[in-house]
Amino acid sequence: MSTTDDSKKGHAINPAANQDGMAKGLTNYGDRGFSLFLRKAFIKGAGFTDKALDRPVIGITNTGSAYNPCHGNMPQLLEAVKRGVMMAGGLPMDFPTISIHESFSQPNSMFLRNLMSMDTEELLLAAPMDAVVLIGGCDKTVPAQLMGAASAGLPAVQLITGSMLTGSHRGERVGACTDCRRYWGKFRAEEIDAEEIAEVNGQLVASVGTCSVMGTASTMACIAEALGMTVPGGASPPAVTADRMRIAEQSGALAVEIARKRLGIDQILTAKAFENAMRVLLAIGGSTNGIVHLTAIAGRMGFEIDLKALDRMGRETPVLLDLKPSGIHYMEDFHAAGGMATLLRELKPLLHLDAMTVTGRTLGEEIEAAGPGFKQDVVRTASNPIYPQGGIAVLEGNLAPGGAIIKQSAAHPKLMEHEGRAVVFENLEDMANRIDSPDLDVTPDDILVLKHIGPKGAAMPEAGYMPIPKKLAVAGCKDIVRISDGRMSGTAFGTIVLHVTPESAIGGPLAYVQNGDRIRLSVANRELSLLISDEELARRAALKPVVIPTAQRGYRKLFLDSVTQADKGVDFDFLMPPATAGKIPNK
Ligand code: FES
Repeated sequence: MSTTDDSKKGHAINPAANQDGMAKGLTNYGDRGFSLFLRKAFIKGAGFTDKALDRPVIGITNTGSAYNPCHGNMPQLLEAVKRGVMMAGGLPMDFPTISIHESFSQPNSMFLRNLMSMDTEELLLAAPMDAVVLIGGCDKTVPAQLMGAASAGLPAVQLITGSMLTGSHRGERVGACTDCRRYWGKFRAEEIDAEEIAEVNGQLVASVGTCSVMGTASTMACIAEALGMTVPGGASPPAVTADRMRIAEQSGALAVEIARKRLGIDQILTAKAFENAMRVLLAIGGSTNGIVHLTAIAGRMGFEIDLKALDRMGRETPVLLDLKPSGIHYMEDFHAAGGMATLLRELKPLLHLDAMTVTGRTLGEEIEAAGPGFKQDVVRTASNPIYPQGGIAVLEGNLAPGGAIIKQSAAHPKLMEHEGRAVVFENLEDMANRIDSPDLDVTPDDILVLKHIGPKGAAMPEAGYMPIPKKLAVAGCKDIVRISDGRMSGTAFGTIVLHVTPESAIGGPLAYVQNGDRIRLSVANRELSLLISDEELARRAALKPVVIPTAQRGYRKLFLDSVTQADKGVDFDFLMPPATAGKIPNK
């Protein structure tokens, strides 16, 4: 007989006595006592004792996958989180969810983000847990987890997998993926040969972990910390460091604490927290994808991100973080410079310091607890920013009645006030077929327009970073104005207008742009205009009405029937709560 099985000592199976831990969310047989009896029988089959099962249960999302090297440190992270949970008196229960990697997601990772959020939400609700540690890192995973956890409503801590290390190519420091694009551009321009591009390919990703620049993964890590959803300092430690493992251990312990305090996610994801996250997004020169994801997470809490207000905030929020693609450093440098505490300290006058965090202390208290800071050159002061305004500007005009955005901190200053002739590609295939053709009628003063890469058009791929047409690249052209209804990677750079809303696939004005039309971009005036009359636009629309994409079955049908536009976060309409909690910022 087992000496550790205390069920034999009269441990009652009484679900009415305890609605927490293992007694939560029982399978419904119409007899709660039997449901708990059965659940305990099964879990004891895995060797658990009643003493273990009486602890607060902490779920841990295991998003390890052979297809996701950005989460390649998952075994070590899981071990450290479990250690933290056990040390704090909880019972760790890890479980798998979908994992998404940018390069292993066909047609693209955005197509799968909402599926991962649904998977996360439903598993958080289906299995008994008093709190959860969400482990994510690669671009879509953290937003998916925060969206799912926001909808599930459980106490939750976000743990980031952490950034990869940088590599070295012929004496030059390199890292994914700004340098991936830069070197590929050199190869296309025939500045480097096939041997060198193959050589650099082996150096761009020097370890497991997320992209090492201020791409979408790093942006979402910083946003998660700014929202108050991580252990303080949780955004920046690289994946393979002891600091990252200590953050994991602390995340486990913190999850037990918030389970005991019943510190719900609704107390963290408040309007003030989202406004803080918007400030941080602007100040880090963050990925344009951050807007879409933040909008989706806020949407799950009933909030609407006000894009015009974001633009106003941008005019008073300088870019302080000197990281690629807007600056020169990498994530590991940001960590060595003190990470988010250094940035938040500098941003203090613009933040809601009374916003609550998962530690049970306010953001202001956490900034104070981080100490006075030290001399470093990665986070600039507000009086010496790397860019005087926020990294992202919101554009409007007859080409984008619902708005469009441009990452001005990564754009070419000369092209930000530009009028040019449209060179139109009807869709991705059309662009792939013609962009490198010597016959393409294009000059560096033209504006490339790519249609049908919006949410319904193509699940909004990161194809807004159109390649420079080969004949221009070879002639030395490094940037050209590009406009689309798609997204671009946070690691990309150039004068690129994105998220044109409404998208062309549902009949937005972008659908009716023709070769040779004149387009005006004025970032100073926040203007994106197609220089044709309203009557001409209406005439073109009547001549060629769009056919909105549909699908016959499966997740693709769900996606196309339900996906919203960029200004609503590209979430599914049925996943957003029916009642709105107001706009952010609330002024
Ligand atoms: Fe995973 Fe860049 S591909 S973070």
